[in-house]
Amino acid sequence: MKLTVQSKTTKGSVQVRITEDAKSTKRFAHEAAGEFLVIGAGKHAEITQRTFITLLRSIIQTAKHERIQKLVLDLDTLRFPQLKDLDDTEFASLIAQNLVMANYEFLRYKAKPKEGYKQVAEVVLLNVGNKALVAGIKKGEIIGNEVNACRELSNTPGGDMTPQVLAKAAKQAVTGLPVTVRTLGVPELKRLKMGALLAVGRGSDTPPTFTIMEYKGGAGKPIVLAGKGITFDSGGLNLKSGDGHEMHMDMSGAASIIHAVALAARLKSKKHVIGLIPAAENMPSGGALRPHDIITSLSGKTIEVINTDAEGRLVLADALTYAKRFSPSVVLDTATLTGGSLSALGMHASALLTRDEDLAVQLLSLSETSGDYLWRLPMWDEYEDSVRSIFADVANSQSGGAGRYASATNGGMFLWQFAKELDCPWAHLDIAPRMTSTKGDELAKGAAGEPVRLLYAFIESWKA
Ligand code: BES
Ligand code: MN
Ligand code: ZN
Repeated sequence: MKLTVQSKTTKGSVQVRITEDAKSTKRFAHEAAGEFLVIGAGKHAEITQRTFITLLRSIIQTAKHERIQKLVLDLDTLRFPQLKDLDDTEFASLIAQNLVMANYEFLRYKAKPKEGYKQVAEVVLLNVGNKALVAGIKKGEIIGNEVNACRELSNTPGGDMTPQVLAKAAKQAVTGLPVTVRTLGVPELKRLKMGALLAVGRGSDTPPTFTIMEYKGGAGKPIVLAGKGITFDSGGLNLKSGDGHEMHMDMSGAASIIHAVALAARLKSKKHVIGLIPAAENMPSGGALRPHDIITSLSGKTIEVINTDAEGRLVLADALTYAKRFSPSVVLDTATLTGGSLSALGMHASALLTRDEDLAVQLLSLSETSGDYLWRLPMWDEYEDSVRSIFADVANSQSGGAGRYASATNGGMFLWQFAKELDCPWAHLDIAPRMTSTKGDELAKGAAGEPVRLLYAFIESWKA
């Protein structure tokens, strides 16, 4: 989708008209003055930043539905009272981001219909009267495209998104950008003794990889971001049953890190950012990791594998240990780690797990403004019991039915056993709730591309 800036509307295009009608009002109107797409937004005084985001997207969704190719949108009709604190750049960026995100569809495997895909080709923006607005549109367009690239990776089926392909995708995401990318294969992982990542990958015919991305936009201790890259999660020998798990998207954490690093570079951030991508496919086979196997992680800590389906925390444990060699100023990880985070929060916010109060406050605030919403779950000492093992240093799950309770917190508590060695603030984002879009998001079905916007906002605001 092209975003262009014009001083006045052109003939033959459809103008967007935002009214105070009910939000369900969405219609196409032929009038003497021209053609209009009428979008009800409810009382304009009640529009918040949250509802503004979905309103923007609904413009595009309606246009797609009506097969409108070219839209005209006047920025002055979007200056709702509650948005008055947004500066022009952020205002325009928010508009561009969400228009671009709403236009995305996962089309890679779909034949082009005769009438063409239902996508908007161009949005002409009016009343972009100053440099800050122009800059905001450019920035927002870049952010939106990066989020969409993240969604494209996550949506790709497991058969076509192996650990090797994911590693290659990290390289492709930063072609032409000043980012170095290095991928370690099995021989190097063995030399390093990345026992947990290797153990998870053992059951698959496609071997694990570990990818390191580095963007050095400034000096100082880096921000290290690690993302769960399980390219398909069958559960392993603790095989998942039934369908509808969409576990080809279990590398959504990795995809978000790849594209957050790319975004920081594309927007010429002054920060030093490192992305770590432990990637493996979790499969059952004769060689697979067994329940009650005891493995030795990169940290030297032994792990009793109570459940082979709690594999994300295993690969992240090694990534967190690896992070230490960069002397980070802060470490964040993103992972579709637990179904329990979904049970707790539904599909409208990811779970934030951290023991650092200041980091929690900062991330929660950025989550509200970025649109990648977070809600905090506890990480109190009391929960540390859940990772005790009788025969090893730690267990990756509780035995029996107890594994069901507080599983998002327990996942965080497991990761904390490794993150506590870091000597810097750390937070874990369990993004399982936001792996896919949901009703009301006004986004295409499939991957949501979260939390790329939040990670970028965090990179920009973090003071090392
Ligand atoms: N990838 C899954 C979690 C998941 C579930 C993500 C649904 C997105 C949607 C993860 O590897 C997993 O299987 N977790 C287990 C942990 C349990 C065995 C302690 C879970 O949540 O059931
Ligand atoms: Mn699993
Ligand atoms: Zn998983």
